[in-house]
Amino acid sequence: MGQNKLERFAELNEFDNVFQPAFDDTFRKDWVLKGKWHKEIFKNDNPIVLELGCGKGEYTVGLGKRYPDKNFIGIDIKGNRMWVGAKEALENDMNNIRFLRTRIEIIESFFAENEISEIWITFPDPQLKRGKKRLTSARFLNAYKTFLRKDGVVHLKTDNRELHDFTNEIAKLNNLSVVAKETDLYNSDIDSDILAIKTYYEQQYLNQGLPITYIQFGLNNNELINPPFDKEEK
Ligand SMILES: C[S@@+](CC[C@H](N)C(=O)[O-])C[C@H]1O[C@@H](n2cnc3c(N)ncnc32)[C@H](O)[C@@H]1O
Repeated sequence: MGQNKLERFAELNEFDNVFQPAFDDTFRKDWVLKGKWHKEIFKNDNPIVLELGCGKGEYTVGLGKRYPDKNFIGIDIKGNRMWVGAKEALENDMNNIRFLRTRIEIIESFFAENEISEIWITFPDPQLKRGKKRLTSARFLNAYKTFLRKDGVVHLKTDNRELHDFTNEIAKLNNLSVVAKETDLYNSDIDSDILAIKTYYEQQYLNQGLPITYIQFGLNNNELINPPFDKEEK
């Protein structure tokens, strides 16, 4: 492991805006802060927004700057990437930002019903061969449903057309409301300051000339979300 990485890990342990729960405290059990983020951490009732697979946390920090009246939690398993966003948030005294280092597979251990208002998924690993691991698979969407408010939305930004189409298909199949959908975001009519935040991975794809896709949808039906028939989740 590089020196830089080791130094970052050591620093991350000292950052008071980063939580790194032990696996044994979270696997198949509720973590201590589940249901308590508003009261004990942010100390306000402002909406809480998650960024899943946040990497260096460009959306967590970028949105946090634009919306001081909302709270943001960046989630990723990689500490040395998260260090970048956490450091910037600390240096700018951003009290509306936290980072959580964990696996998204156990996300239900961390948030209670209606605790979360919005979810951003930014350039996730597409997991084309392992449907169940896709962050917009039925399995994950059903997990998000347990804590996302009924009026909440999920945003997916990706360069991967197959993942974008899969997500659109699962939304359609399950009668989820698709609020916005673009297959070439930066050549579309959408002119949004929020969508113009660029992540580290996004910049690499843009440098290669790849179109960036975007879809925003709700999880607003009461049924269990099913995978597309022809793509059994494995
Ligand atoms: C392709 S990177 C994108 C990072 C960042 N969002 C960006 O756009 O630059 C995917 C990120 O998701 C994280 N990740 C992938 N699977 C994960 C999982 N199951 N739980 C937590 N983090 C995960 C990886 O560690 C990585 O930082």
